Amino acid sequence: MNPDRRPLIAANWKMHKTLSEAVAFVESIQKETGPLADREVVIAPAFTALHALREILRQKGYSLAAQNCHWEEKGAFTGEVSPAMLKDLGCAYVIVGHSERRQLFGETDETVRLKTTAVIKAGMDPIVCVGEVLAERERGQTFEVVRRQLEGALRGFSPAQMAGVVVAYEPVWAIGTGKTATPAQAQEVHACIRAALAALFDKTIENKIRILYGGSVKPSNIDALLSEQDIDGALVGGASLEVGSFKSLVQFTI
Ligand code: PGA
Repeated sequence: MNPDRRPLIAANWKMHKTLSEAVAFVESIQKETGPLADREVVIAPAFTALHALREILRQKGYSLAAQNCHWEEKGAFTGEVSPAMLKDLGCAYVIVGHSERRQLFGETDETVRLKTTAVIKAGMDPIVCVGEVLAERERGQTFEVVRRQLEGALRGFSPAQMAGVVVAYEPVWAIGTGKTATPAQAQEVHACIRAALAALFDKTIENKIRILYGGSVKPSNIDALLSEQDIDGALVGGASLEVGSFKSLVQFTI
């Protein structure tokens, strides 16, 4: 972590929690944690819970995020949700290009770019996910893959458009597997991402953009991960679903 960047802990609930479960979770987190002014906490529930969580999260000072969106403003796209609809619900962030979307729903660098553009245009900040699969890591292609995904998603934006973008490095082999990248493994990819941002934009953007690590983050490893210079927070799936572990995550200390 670098004191110039505000750390961010984001819960990605994926397809978990009904409306009442989501509300109960946030209410009990609210009771159990004190003020956390030096860090940002973001919750990305299913679309169905966004509206109900808006006000409760606002009172707590937490931010609301969606897990996905379409890139068009409106139209005949049955089952899709537009960035404007999410902005209207109070979302500050939208997760874009999560590896589950890429692997299970055919998202490509190009659709990730379209969604990233649409999210920025609608006045929200995208959390753009990148990361290699195990075979790519074993072939020594991690940096190449991550650079390609990053350029595919972000090339052509102005520094002003980039100001609020968040990048999440999520090695696919670490997601939901219990196998976390070691802090050193994560740090070297985060440094590569920061260098790629410098090449695509400039020094201000390189130093400003927050890069989160995701992939089996839990209370026992968050402090070590966030101690690394270029790791500015975490995008957490499994361990964000229980009040006890989520509370420990947001209370990380380094
Ligand atoms: P995990 O998921 O923490 O369960 O590995 C992370 C993610 O998919 O964002």
